[in-house]
Amino acid sequence: MASSVLIDVDPGNDDAVLIALAAATERLDIEAVTTVAGNVGLEHTTRNARAILEWLGETDVPVAPGADAPLVRELETASHVHGPRGLHTQPPEPTADPVAAAGANVIVERARANPGELTLLAVGPLTNVALALALEPELPELLDDLQVMGGAAFVTGNASPTAEYNFYVDPEAARRVVRQAGPKLVGLDVTNHTTVPSDTIREWASSDEPLRTLASWLAYAAPENVDDALDEGTPPRVHDATVGVDQLADVLEFESYPAEVETYGSHRGALACDDRPRTDREPNVEVAVDIDASVFRAELVDALQSLNIESWPAVQTRLSEPRSSMHS
Ligand code: BDR
Ligand code: CA
Repeated sequence: MASSVLIDVDPGNDDAVLIALAAATERLDIEAVTTVAGNVGLEHTTRNARAILEWLGETDVPVAPGADAPLVRELETASHVHGPRGLHTQPPEPTADPVAAAGANVIVERARANPGELTLLAVGPLTNVALALALEPELPELLDDLQVMGGAAFVTGNASPTAEYNFYVDPEAARRVVRQAGPKLVGLDVTNHTTVPSDTIREWASSDEPLRTLASWLAYAAPENVDDALDEGTPPRVHDATVGVDQLADVLEFESYPAEVETYGSHRGALACDDRPRTDREPNVEVAVDIDASVFRAELVDALQSLNIESWPAVQTRLSEPRSSMHS
């Protein structure tokens, strides 16, 4: 049976890979997508989410725009990594509008309507999830599971020496979610190992769509620059896809810890995970500490490749029909 997922995203090239993975596999049903400001501003992340879903034939999935800034801070984007509009290859302009309800409300409404059935995959700054918790403190009990791409528990950060980007951008939101929601944290400890082989990305970059665009997202580079980008060393990590692959194949190993998110000074956004053997604090999070990287790669590559074989020609024909009839 398929698992139903709510996806909270800031696409973002690796967010786009997660959405594509969820669209590709019949083992995941996307209940709704909510967007948040992060890698780029909310206008871009919302447009990108809508465009990716439509391009992949997921026209029925509602997209609800969420917070346009962190809870109490100015937004610091990652457009230097993801491009000025958040994706290195943009799918065609979407034809459908986002829904009128706000992201946090949609998370709460869907969770209340399907108690115990939905898994929330949150892979941007945690602003929407924190707001949803404020609206509905019972949210964790209403969800089947909450997996967050965020934090650097026992490894170096990527936004600062101690902080991972999603936690760094909205540390107050991350603190609230870590304190109140008992999340599973899928941070850099494991996502640092989530690469797809360069040869696969190169092959897809010189193939037809949709693989060409997927290659661009996997390499964080325009298709014509994929070769150069990959020549620079290890292929980039597709952090956000990790939570999706774990739904399919349990590739992650978790350990429980007491943890807190720092909100002040140079350790802003740091996840302080208490792994002292004799702490008397109760665990409040599960932290992913290990990943089966080869199963991760195989599952991700297989699922994305199936888009090409099974659904792409039919979807693109169907999507092009209304447009051509409009002009006839
Ligand atoms: C996270 O930061 C963002 O740039 C990515 O989309 C991912 O969610 C990795 O630290
Ligand atoms: Ca993201």
